[in-house]
Amino acid sequence: MSNPKQLSVQALRWAGSSLEVLDQRLLPEQIRYDEYNDAAGVTEAIASMRVRGAPAIGIAAAYGVVLSALQHYPKADWQAAVERDIKQLAASRPTAVNLFWALDKMHGLLAQNPAEPIATLTQLAEQIHSDDIAANHAMGERGADVIGDAKAVLTHCNAGALATGGYGTALGVIRSLHKRGQLQNVFADETRPWLQGARLTVWELAQDGIPATLIADSAAAWLMKSGKVDWIIVGADRIAANGDVANKIGTYSLAVLARQHGVKVMVAAPSSTFDFSLENGDGIKIEERNPKELLADCYLSEDSLVGAWNPVFDVTPAELITAIVTERGVVIDPGKHGVRSLATC
Ligand code: MRU
Repeated sequence: MSNPKQLSVQALRWAGSSLEVLDQRLLPEQIRYDEYNDAAGVTEAIASMRVRGAPAIGIAAAYGVVLSALQHYPKADWQAAVERDIKQLAASRPTAVNLFWALDKMHGLLAQNPAEPIATLTQLAEQIHSDDIAANHAMGERGADVIGDAKAVLTHCNAGALATGGYGTALGVIRSLHKRGQLQNVFADETRPWLQGARLTVWELAQDGIPATLIADSAAAWLMKSGKVDWIIVGADRIAANGDVANKIGTYSLAVLARQHGVKVMVAAPSSTFDFSLENGDGIKIEERNPKELLADCYLSEDSLVGAWNPVFDVTPAELITAIVTERGVVIDPGKHGVRSLATC
């Protein structure tokens, strides 16, 4: 990798027979890696947001399958036990398709009955991990080519090294722009309620010396109206065949605002984020998390009259997106063209 500093913000570290997971809930105050030795632990780490971000949870799940094989092989019926663990991992979160994509790949290999299952499954998990980093670097360059020069961009949630194998998708494009001297500033939304923008994105950018300015989510319209940003750049959790994009809650609002203010919208995602089985975004399952994540402590008593609704993703229609960038290529105006052309090239 060109910048060794990026290695300091690895979300996941494979340690040969265990997985080290950076507990992102503790950032930026504390950098703590916890060691996981079984698939149940990895499932919990994903469900509880210790590791988060679509590509990162896919990679974590792939290593979770390796840990399952390490635990059960060569006991009788070890394959059935691994399959049960794969089902458990698949139930950890519903929206990001990268999770199911990675588990399908691992399951497909298991079904081939490899002679040396541990070595073979480990090799595939490591390949999924390194391919993701390579894809991010490739889409970073492609995205930077599309944007050219920008006074500033706005990003939402965290789509950086922390959310991926490394380098990042939206932050990959931002890193590439910065390296080329084509970007003056990055605005980051706080991203309520988990504050991925405030706790992760601005911290991650600061590690690389990239100028970043935090805004409240509700400041985005005024930021655009003030003419301070040229592009919004986000990642994705699932992209349907027509180019509809599921991403962190609030992405849809940003895209609507961008249309009103003449700001362009870029989605950067690896091909593992595409779900060509879905014609459009209507079929994407949107995760709803515990309402307690939204409520202040004073509302949490048994007899509280206050309810909350906590969908954590939304779907942005393709026609509001200017460009979808992946390691395989770029689709400009996906609302007109869909993204099936990226399936095979
Ligand atoms: O709930 P999270 O933090 O897992 O949501 C993450 C996002 O929505 C990211 O923007 C998306 O996964 C793209 S990450 C490269």
